[in-house]
Amino acid sequence: MGFMANNDVFVPTLTLADGSEIPQIGLGTWMLHGDDAYRVVRAALEMGYRHIDTATLYDNEVEVGRAIADAIRAGEVTREELFITSKVWNDDQGREKAQKAFQTSLTLLGLDYLDLYLVHWPCPQRGLYNETFEAIATIQGLGQVQSIGVANFYEEVMEDLVSATGIVPAVNQVELHPGFSQAPLRALHERLGIVTTAWAPLARGDVLNHSVITGIAQEHGVNPAAVVLRWLVQSGLVAIPKTAHRQRLLENLNVNKLTLSIDEVSSLTAMDHGGGSGRLYTDPRNFPV
Ligand SMILES: NC(=O)c1ccc[n+]([C@@H]2O[C@H](COP(=O)([O-])OP(=O)(O)OC[C@H]3O[C@@H](n4cnc5c(N)ncnc54)[C@H](OP(=O)(O)O)[C@@H]3O)[C@@H](O)[C@H]2O)c1
Repeated sequence: MGFMANNDVFVPTLTLADGSEIPQIGLGTWMLHGDDAYRVVRAALEMGYRHIDTATLYDNEVEVGRAIADAIRAGEVTREELFITSKVWNDDQGREKAQKAFQTSLTLLGLDYLDLYLVHWPCPQRGLYNETFEAIATIQGLGQVQSIGVANFYEEVMEDLVSATGIVPAVNQVELHPGFSQAPLRALHERLGIVTTAWAPLARGDVLNHSVITGIAQEHGVNPAAVVLRWLVQSGLVAIPKTAHRQRLLENLNVNKLTLSIDEVSSLTAMDHGGGSGRLYTDPRNFPV
């Protein structure tokens, strides 16, 4: 499934276990603040992005919400066409704090429901992730959020969450890029029917000069980011690249402009075993320290 954005760009979607459709490319907004956040989200919506990823931590929910409201007012998009994600921050774990944090996000965004709400990190040392996830399941029951999920959950905490709460998250949003394709975790997701979203899908630019990627990019006459995002989409994942640049916004959305061969997909996945970087950022087992 999918939809036509502007400029003849087709954006594929996946169906979550709860029946909702999630666009396979979304806009990441970490490190976008103030007028920049407004400008980039507004430009993205205008060119056809329908999936926006924010969080309490990013401190930009007001600007993201204002861009959404203005795009709707301008007739560029309807609320029903959008897929808006936010996340409960670590300090707000626990039943009451999480429910309050959700209401604050909703108010800051100026929305009356979210499409997806995530537990941002498991913080295993605190032992509150099951209670926090159950709290957002209650919000789902009240109809204020369409889908619920988690982020940065590794195998042990995912298995514990599902057995303790009896609820399977619709999404797990995790660090994932060439060199760190998270094969064991994705196998668990597949078994449980969880969609994987890749954060830092471009490894924040780190992988874009790798010869496997530049070689495939040259072969197809596209830029390296397009190869990485196509690899993720063709592998059945969602990706939420962040860019502050208009030209890159469009490039990143246009994942259907190329198809990778099975060998190309395999060579990108094989970067896990040589030449790739492995995990680049915080290991959720040890966060917060
Ligand atoms: N759940 C979590 O714990 C978690 C953690 C981290 C991130 N996230 C989410 O995931 C999103 C994406 O991750 P990220 O922002 O860390 O990293 P990313 O999307 O992998 O990389 C962003 C960087 O790549 C550059 N870039 C973007 N498109 C490009 C292109 N076409 N060609 C060359 N460079 C390009 C951007 O530069 P310019 O802006 O200068 O274009 C920026 O420096 C975040 O924004 C956030 O929404 C979630």
